Amino acid sequence: MAQEQFLIIALDGGAATGKSSTSRGLARLHNLLHVDTGTHYRALTLACLEAAVAPIASPDLITLLEQLALGCRIDDREANVTVNGRQPTMEELRADEVNSLVSRYAALPEVREAVKAYQRGLAEEARRSGFDGLIMDGRDIGTVIFPDADLKVFLFADESTRAQRRAAEGQVDAIGDRDKADQQRKTAPLVPAADAQRIDTGSFTLNEVIAQISGLIEDARAAKLG
Ligand code: CDP
Repeated sequence: MAQEQFLIIALDGGAATGKSSTSRGLARLHNLLHVDTGTHYRALTLACLEAAVAPIASPDLITLLEQLALGCRIDDREANVTVNGRQPTMEELRADEVNSLVSRYAALPEVREAVKAYQRGLAEEARRSGFDGLIMDGRDIGTVIFPDADLKVFLFADESTRAQRRAAEGQVDAIGDRDKADQQRKTAPLVPAADAQRIDTGSFTLNEVIAQISGLIEDARAAKLG
């Protein structure tokens, strides 16, 4: 597919709204590289915890962030983050301690600055690797990372649906608290971009959400072709 048809899709939303499962399904259907940016903040949280660096702006935090090189290992259609060459495991990234502290680290402008260029650079990585587009999920993809994305989608769902999803995964995760912290922070808060399509995932099955967004992707591709 010609490079000018390459699509950038921003998929944002709160905790456990279905961003990752939806993105993975769409990546398979449309040959997209999927990036779960929550893993970037989780990986940095893990590195800070290992180095005993607290979630406050401090010289120690800045020094540590300067020493951490983020990289990318592509496995099928997933872009997995590496930190100084090592890919943290899913168990490490989803540990209870990380769940409870990630929003505090993610609220720090220093931490957000440390991932920004890396996240933007993944579009080029996807192009080079022969994908037809990039689907990036997170909280600020349509507002901060790719404000000119070809398609922006914002997922939401009521809290009880989301809590049930997390419990079914066997995770301890105060999603309501995490969302509140993400919505209230000063830097890159969790808010829908003005031009995002909003979808309530509590009212539809995963396949129905994927089908709806697939239609939007086809429209975005047609619009791009003029
Ligand atoms: O999977 P889940 O929706 O529960 O969360 P996640 O996507 O793994 O994100 C974990 C945390 O990272 C969020 O609660 C945010 O504090 C932070 N995050 C962020 O600030 N910006 C992003 N683009 C992605 C995640």
